[in-house]
Amino acid sequence: MCGIIAYIGPNPALPRIVDGLRRMEYRGYDSAGLALAHEGKLWLRKEVGRVADLASQLRDGPESNVGIGHTRWATHGGVTQVNAHPHTDVTETIALVHNGIIDNTNPLRAMLTSQGVSFRSETDTELLAHLVRKHYDGDPVQAVRDALKHVRGTYGLAVLFAAHPDVLVAARNGSPLVVGIGQGETVLASDPQAVVAHTRRVVYLQDRELAVLTAEGVDVQTLDGDTVDSAIETLDSDYALASKEGFDHFMLKEIHEQPRSIKRALRGRIQVNEGNAKLGGLNMTPRDLVAVQRVINLGCGTSYHAGMTAAMAIEALARVPARAEIASEFRYRHPIIPRDALFFAVSQSGETADTLGAVSEVQLKGGAVMGIVNVVGSTAARTCGRGVYVHSGPEIAVASTKAFTSQVAAMLVFTLMLARCRNLSLEQGQAVASALDDIPSKVAQYLREPGPIDQAVQLIRDARYVLFLGRGYSYPVALEGALKLKEIAYVPCEGYPAGEMKHGPIAMLDPGAPVVFISPDDGQKEKAIANMMEVKARGATLICVHTKGDDEIEALADVSIPVPDTADFATPLLTVLPLQLIAYHVGLALGRDIDKPRNLAKSVTVE
Ligand code: F6R
Repeated sequence: MCGIIAYIGPNPALPRIVDGLRRMEYRGYDSAGLALAHEGKLWLRKEVGRVADLASQLRDGPESNVGIGHTRWATHGGVTQVNAHPHTDVTETIALVHNGIIDNTNPLRAMLTSQGVSFRSETDTELLAHLVRKHYDGDPVQAVRDALKHVRGTYGLAVLFAAHPDVLVAARNGSPLVVGIGQGETVLASDPQAVVAHTRRVVYLQDRELAVLTAEGVDVQTLDGDTVDSAIETLDSDYALASKEGFDHFMLKEIHEQPRSIKRALRGRIQVNEGNAKLGGLNMTPRDLVAVQRVINLGCGTSYHAGMTAAMAIEALARVPARAEIASEFRYRHPIIPRDALFFAVSQSGETADTLGAVSEVQLKGGAVMGIVNVVGSTAARTCGRGVYVHSGPEIAVASTKAFTSQVAAMLVFTLMLARCRNLSLEQGQAVASALDDIPSKVAQYLREPGPIDQAVQLIRDARYVLFLGRGYSYPVALEGALKLKEIAYVPCEGYPAGEMKHGPIAMLDPGAPVVFISPDDGQKEKAIANMMEVKARGATLICVHTKGDDEIEALADVSIPVPDTADFATPLLTVLPLQLIAYHVGLALGRDIDKPRNLAKSVTVE
């Protein structure tokens, strides 16, 4: 979603800001802009489209050592040049970039309008620039502080004053900002990926904090003006200059990285001999674990599917009631927070507004919530305090692939811990642990021989409708396969529990319609075959993802995609792989922008 970058230091700001914008492109955006302070004035450019379109308009940019930049993903107001950030005050001497949403936009706009301000854009951000101006009396920091007293909502913002080129002011409430402290230069970004080119020494701003940036460093204060003693942290080595490593797209690279990323999610955590596992970040003793009477996984999109998968495993192996909930629904339905429940906030980015909102709701009602998070130091990780990093490494493609399998793997490790201290014997625990331990090599084995993906692509690329079906553990996989295809290829499709098909979606099946059936050799296979017969009876074309060597399914399938055999609970880690590849190759065949699909954002930091 939107990205903020700001630079102040001895070097030309313009190329550094453009570089920062490029590094945040993966997050998804529809327009970009920047502002520099130069000789008492602001120089400002913004463009609809890609950062490259903006970069082509910057040849006459002045030599300036301070500036701010932004990639915008439209929320308030359409995708237009006027609505792109930065926004300025009426005198065009204060420029501001903003991530988040201002809740009291209407009264503030009305108040400013009544005072003679005429608005140029439809955004909520523009009013912030006017508000800062209204409170400006020669002191840029006080102006921002006073302006924010009137604001309700979420923001990460950076403010540039033409009259104060030696300072940048930033503030955070609910939208992430990180300050990079370099050698005589300071950068600010909403994403550590944009900071890492300058420095690994960072300060994460917390909610209701304001930062005064100079070339010499950062002074962090509360919005009320109290000094904050922020810790300087070192960015994880995962944050490197993102490279496709010879693959055509980040998505394909990330799909092929899964043997390694799953290994990282499991490394040092599984104890095969003891038939057990250890997750230090949870800081839970066996006594704490046996006190858990239910588990509730909160997440959105792919992370929700990972939570569904894990909930099934928790019920099956640990016999603890478990379910997944869509965070955006959960947070607003006045949920019951049982005292004996353990909640997990499942989020790759750790910045998804709906998931963070659900976390707040659980915490407000006294519940225990832990993170299943990829991005180290992200808001979810900090807010939850305890949890599990999935260590999949930075995921750059907008569509999540390796994060899904790492989330599932990490939650299966938790499942083993929970199950072992309840009802699993040593032998049963060892079987679960070694099934997990074998997964990375089985994933590698599948990726070396992915099966006839091209045949599936030919059937799907021009389809009017594609149905993904699965039962049990394969149901969330079906949902995930359909989500990937929608996101990357924009092909109409849906995922459904196979047994539910006859209650509706079967009406969609024309002769030849592709149906992707996920049916590994688990306890559900017999029933799945019955559903396959129903599909075939309607003349639909069956693309089956199944366990290698399963002749029965192979005989039924029009296209048969085998995956290595594994324990039932681990099948999603293998069956999802062909679905990721199908989405990728259909998207490619249709000429889609694979790593930056339309309308989507990598981390959805607004509701
Ligand atoms: C799908 C996808 C999204 C995210 C969702 C939650 O490919 O990437 O559905 O899974 O926006 O994001 P996180 O996991 O960052 O909370």
